[in-house]
Amino acid sequence: MKTTAPSKASPTASTITLRVNGERHTLPVDHRTTLLDALREHLGLTGAKKGCDQGQCGSCTVLLDGRRTVSCLQLAVAAEGREITTVEGLADGDRLHPVQQAFLDLDGYQCGYCTSGQICSAVAMIEEHAAGWPSAVTEDVGAAEPPPLSPQEIRERMSGNLCRCGAYVAIVEAIALAASGGGTEAAA
Ligand code: FES
Repeated sequence: MKTTAPSKASPTASTITLRVNGERHTLPVDHRTTLLDALREHLGLTGAKKGCDQGQCGSCTVLLDGRRTVSCLQLAVAAEGREITTVEGLADGDRLHPVQQAFLDLDGYQCGYCTSGQICSAVAMIEEHAAGWPSAVTEDVGAAEPPPLSPQEIRERMSGNLCRCGAYVAIVEAIALAASGGGTEAAA
């Protein structure tokens, strides 16, 4: 009778190195671990929040190579070699990032659960706008200069970040302030 050697189980974990906020971290992860869980559960960076855990609310937004992404839909193993920036990495020492400062100055939050995602998303969104990326409400997508970052543009471009408290009025005002160069005061 022919016998077959038992097949080796596929490896389900790897040791990876993630570069987060300028620091390298080597950690063992199950291949199914999301970037969000790696940040929160392995590295103790709890700024990115787990809201819906299915990419719909934006509270887990971080920056990957400067572009915003929902970290609950990214596998940690796929983030190796990328530059990951979380809300903890935006400030320059005691000086808050202008978007953080603007949220603080204008109360761009209520409970705060969505705030780190809103801020990371806004940081990248302002750069996308400055680089001339159009949005769904941009009227002249061929214009040489990006359109003004109007409240309508901000609302559309930030539509992937939900706020359960409905603090949208102050959120939009804070982003507009930061985009205009305001909100740059250093934190005390
Ligand atoms: Fe509470 Fe946005 S401030 S969810």
